[in-house]
Amino acid sequence: MKQAKFSMETVGKVITCRAAIAWTINAPLCIEEVGVDPPKAGEVRIKVISSGICGSENHILDGTFPVPLPAILGHKGAGVVESIGEGVSSVKPGDKVLTLPIPQCRKCDSCLHAKGNCCLKEDAISPVGLMLDGTTRFTCRGRKVHNLFRTSTLTEYTVMHEISVAKIDDAAPLEKVCVLACGFPTGYGAAVNTAQVTPGSTCVVFGLGGVRSAVVLGCRAAGAARIIGIDINEGKLARAKALGVTDCLNPQNFTKPIQQVVVEMTGLGADFTFEAIGTIEMTVAALESCNLSYGVCVILGVSPVKSHLPLDPLKLVSGQTLKGCLLGEYKSRDQIPLLVDDYMKKKIDAESLITHNLPFVKINEGFELL
Ligand SMILES: NC(=O)c1ccc[n+]([C@@H]2O[C@H](COP(=O)([O-])OP(=O)(O)OC[C@H]3O[C@@H](n4cnc5c(N)ncnc54)[C@H](O)[C@@H]3O)[C@@H](O)[C@H]2O)c1
Ligand SMILES: [Zn+2]
Ligand SMILES: [Zn+2]
Repeated sequence: MKQAKFSMETVGKVITCRAAIAWTINAPLCIEEVGVDPPKAGEVRIKVISSGICGSENHILDGTFPVPLPAILGHKGAGVVESIGEGVSSVKPGDKVLTLPIPQCRKCDSCLHAKGNCCLKEDAISPVGLMLDGTTRFTCRGRKVHNLFRTSTLTEYTVMHEISVAKIDDAAPLEKVCVLACGFPTGYGAAVNTAQVTPGSTCVVFGLGGVRSAVVLGCRAAGAARIIGIDINEGKLARAKALGVTDCLNPQNFTKPIQQVVVEMTGLGADFTFEAIGTIEMTVAALESCNLSYGVCVILGVSPVKSHLPLDPLKLVSGQTLKGCLLGEYKSRDQIPLLVDDYMKKKIDAESLITHNLPFVKINEGFELL
């Protein structure tokens, strides 16, 4: 097995490199020179090789999901460990790693529970943008810069807690596997872990972005017979067919609510529905599209902060299930490296989530494409 090369020259020193800074919302990111501090105890400094961008970053930049700014965004990354702080034992310099937006400390109530994966050390639900000691490792133009979800991957180097870093196969292609750090597990796990899609079932996926592609792959892997995809972007509908979506619907082409269309198409509503957009309107539509008696609706999308779901409790009394999931219910450090192994064995097609490859300096073009 080949070891990635690394040098000792930077160890213990501040690294000056380029990063994309979000100074304010509703503005492009700025590529700037930043200082990245050495890792403290329990921390790891990583040379980032690739990063994906996610619907969550879009919500941050349009202001619907506020995080402290200025910040270095990006949370699904792949890279190589440059140096480690005191006490770090699960990775060493030269190791290939993924950056995890949800850590796994293996000690908290959630980590110790058989099913829990929302580690209490997370910073993704109500982000403060700082390390666990309340400080940051990034400086730009003399100002301290926040991290995102304690990952920050839109930078050449980042510093993360060991509990947020997953060591992966030495042979994994780093320019591709970044999608396995968030988008893929979120969608795939929603289908196979959270909904537990059954063979022959009918599934409906709201929102055909990156997360959705993985939901579709998960539904297919679980043996779904029919997969209905819903999006307002016609371009996404075309791609969805190639992935295995059997029926594509654009809500703008109908005068009646899309949930009514789905119920009519399926007879009595779908077995499983997934919301991967992040709006209340589509969450309600996803719930109302599933079978009143045994339908399961899974929320993945991040709706605007402090929004509320109008919910008729009788719908749940009739037997429907409404649930949500974070990172596809995977225990991040334990299970995401196993997804990388499955990808290496060609058991999962994570590459179908990659639509474009851009150099770092074209990051704003990336957001336009998203
Ligand atoms: N639960 C988790 O762990 C988790 C993890 C990652 C992302 N997310 C969330 O999942 C959601 C999807 O993320 P993504 O990366 O796929 O985003 P994306 O931007 O790639 O995709 C969103 C899709 O929704 C479509 N859309 C927007 N408004 C619509 C409407 N009114 N009707 C129909 N379609 C509409 C867009 O055209 C786009 O194709 C986001 O809300 C994101 O924050 C959740
Ligand atoms: Zn994400
Ligand atoms: Zn934990």
